[in-house]
This record gives sequence, C-alpha cells and structure tokens, in this order.
Amino acid sequence: MKQLWTGRIEGAMDEGAAALNASLAFDMRLALQDLRGSIVWAHALAKIGILTTDEANQIGRGLDKIGKEIAGGIFALAATDEDIHTTVERRLGELIGEAAGKLHTGRSRNDQVTTDFRLWLMEADDRLHHAIRRLQESLVNRSEQDFGIAMPGYTHTQRAQPVLLSHWWLSHFWALDRDAGRLSQLRARTAVCPLGSGALAGTAFPVDREAIARELGFARPSDNSIDAVSDRDFAAEFLFFTALLGVHLSRLADALILFSTSEFGFVEMDDAFSTGSSLMPQKKNPDVLELVRGKSGKLIGLLTGLLSTLKGLPSAYDKDLQEDKQPVFEAADTLESILPVLARLIGSLSIHKEKITAAIDDGMLATDLADYLVRKGIPFRAAHTAAGRAVRRSIELGIPLTRMKPEEYRKIDPGFGADLAEVFNVETSIARRGATGGTAPESVKKQIQKARAILAEN
Ligand code: ARG
Repeated sequence: MKQLWTGRIEGAMDEGAAALNASLAFDMRLALQDLRGSIVWAHALAKIGILTTDEANQIGRGLDKIGKEIAGGIFALAATDEDIHTTVERRLGELIGEAAGKLHTGRSRNDQVTTDFRLWLMEADDRLHHAIRRLQESLVNRSEQDFGIAMPGYTHTQRAQPVLLSHWWLSHFWALDRDAGRLSQLRARTAVCPLGSGALAGTAFPVDREAIARELGFARPSDNSIDAVSDRDFAAEFLFFTALLGVHLSRLADALILFSTSEFGFVEMDDAFSTGSSLMPQKKNPDVLELVRGKSGKLIGLLTGLLSTLKGLPSAYDKDLQEDKQPVFEAADTLESILPVLARLIGSLSIHKEKITAAIDDGMLATDLADYLVRKGIPFRAAHTAAGRAVRRSIELGIPLTRMKPEEYRKIDPGFGADLAEVFNVETSIARRGATGGTAPESVKKQIQKARAILAEN
C-alpha cells in the first residue's frame, strides 16, 4: 500500500495497521468542506505567486470535477486512500497531473482537517438550530391550542398545585430556548479558521489568513498555530450542547410517556407515532418517545468519550484527534433524526381534557388555603399549619376540602370566613399566580407573546 509520505518511510504498510490508521470511512463526510478549503487555499497560493494563474485554474477545475463526481455518486475510491485529504489529492493528481502536487504547499493535514471539521460543524449547527426552533414552535402551538386547560402540576411525581397545561408546554420551550442560545454561542467559537497554521508552527508562505478565513465563511483566523491544530473545544462544546439538549428531550419524552399510560390517560399519541406489540394485540407503545429518552444516554456517552480522548494529549496534533469526528457526526445525526419527529408527534397528540382536569384533587389547593389566611394577616407558618390540619380533618371525615363545612374550618382557625368558598377553587388558584413567570392565564399569554417574538426573529 503506497502512502503519501514515501521518502522517509520505506515499504508497504501492514494491511491491518493501514486499516486502523484510515479514517476515510467516516471523514468522507467532510468531502465538500475539504474541496472548499482547497479551492480557497489554491487561490491564496496564487495571490502570492506560489501557483501561476494557470495552475490555480487547473486545480480549481479539477476540484470542481471531484465535487461533481462525489455529488453524482460516481467517485471511485482507491485501496490506498487513507483519509478524505489524501483521497482528494490522489484524484486531483489523476485529473490534472503535476500541478496537483503544488496544492499542499505550506499546508498540513493538521490545519486542513480541523478547518474542514469546523466548516462541517457550522453547517450542522445551522440545521440543528432550525430544527430546535421548529420543535419550540410545536410547543407554542400546543400552548395556544390547549389554552385554558387546568392540569395537576407535579413535584416528586406527586400532585402539587394546579397549573395551566399551556404553562407546562412552555416550560419545555424555555429549556430548548437555552439550548438554541448555547448553540449560537458555540457556533461563534467554531467560526475561527485554523487554515494557514501548517503542521503546528504556522505556514512558511505569506498567505493572507484574514482573506482565507473570510472566503471560507469564518469570522476570523485563529491566533496561535499550535492551539489551532490541537484545539477541539468546539467539538467538545458541541457534544455538551447535544448531551444537554438530549437530556431536555428525554425529560419531555418521559413526561409524555407517563401521561399516555392508562393510569394517567392525559394524552394519546397518534397511530403514526405509535408501535404495536408482536404478541399482545391491545398494545399501543410509545417506542418513539422511549428512543428519544434512550438516545439521550448515548449522547452523554459521546461527550464523556471525547473528553477522555482529549485529556491526555500534549499540545499540537496527535492522531488521537482523529477520534473526534465520529462522536460529533453521531450526535448531530441523532438529534437531526429526533427533533422533527418529536415536533410532529407533539403536534398530533390528542389531549384528554376531562381526564386531566379530573386528576386535580382538592388537596392541591391546600397552599391556597394557607394563602387565604395569610391575606387575613396570619403569618404564613401558622397558616401552613392550619391548612395542614384542614387537610387532615378532611381525610378523617372523608369529605373533600372544598365540601367541608365552614364550622369545621372555623374550629381549626377562626380566620376562615364565609368567603372561603369563592376563593377556594382551581380557576382562582391559577388566576392568582399572575406575577411574571406564573401560571395565571394573563402571564401565560405574555409568555406566549414572548415565545412567538423569539420564533419570529429566527
Ligand atoms: N485523518 C486525520 C484526522 O482525522 C487527518 C490529519 C492527519 N494528520 C497527521 N499528522 N497524521 O485527524
């Protein structure tokens, strides 16, 4: 097997070792980015006279042709192809001859690969950003469609306080909004161009790195050539972003799985997003949501895997860094497959309003009972105790709180008056929480407006 570095190293490489060394099977995905980088690099070399205009044009045409071969699915791989960079160089030589040998002047695969990878990731960032926004949109749509439905809010998976279902949907909107923000921030740090850093010491040819960065769509060139070839922070950050997004999606999926059980019966998935059982004819299973939850585990693993690869590396390039691509590709692919499906699944859910509302029991208003006394001037701690005693008494009597007699309340605390009944109900409880961020219809409407404005900007 003939490699690129013939000269110093003699003879063929062991076949197994060559296979281990090769990365083409996965870095073929960087082909278009590699071609773009090479076109800009050829242009930069021509500007400083390393390539004649004719040579630069030949190279440009050859690279274009390779792009077309790849796009047309007719690009033929050779047994000796090691990675995307050597493959493109090999093919360019076949197409244009000697001039191809000048393209790698002043460049190393070390600055080349991380340039390609950053370019790829910037595009993936944009696609994912869009997909997150679409999922957020489906949550806002739901919150508008389901407006007015009161549901039990849970803490510790125990009934806690009534909230609007819209408020609950939006709680997931905001988590995703932070993910989208994180993505924009890490994209800005990814948009730094390493090309022109050479193997590690910088390039010995006076190329215009500002222009190279600009032409490739980066914000600026990197500041330190050693850092530029070793830095994979952008990949690690991306994997943290995907892991946390995965965790958010997993929590949403988990809640929907719970809400779709017969025991809850709050929501029902459309058949298009459900699976059956090979044995039990009655089953309607939430496999899709379970996979969303399950895949979040893998996303966390991909992050910890890359961080472990990076932690022992001295600065500049080490081949360990070749291990950076698969986890990033896999994480991006995973989320690109999940996000649109989840958006459609949420959009097509049936909501069983009666079941949801019926699940709000009187005990969930106990906080309101305490708040009632507080409004009569009783300190909250004492009010909390009195409300707790009322709950206990209602259990003893086997009568729901809202139907317990006024005398029973007065025995517990004389502060309970005749107006108790009118303030002590689910709508009032919800309506009272009108401070910013609360579940009152008015404040949820404001949230929806704010959410819509964010989506309109994006
Ligand atoms: N395939 C390599 C990678 O993915 C490209 C860089 C190789 N550089 C080197 N000095 N061997 O990292």
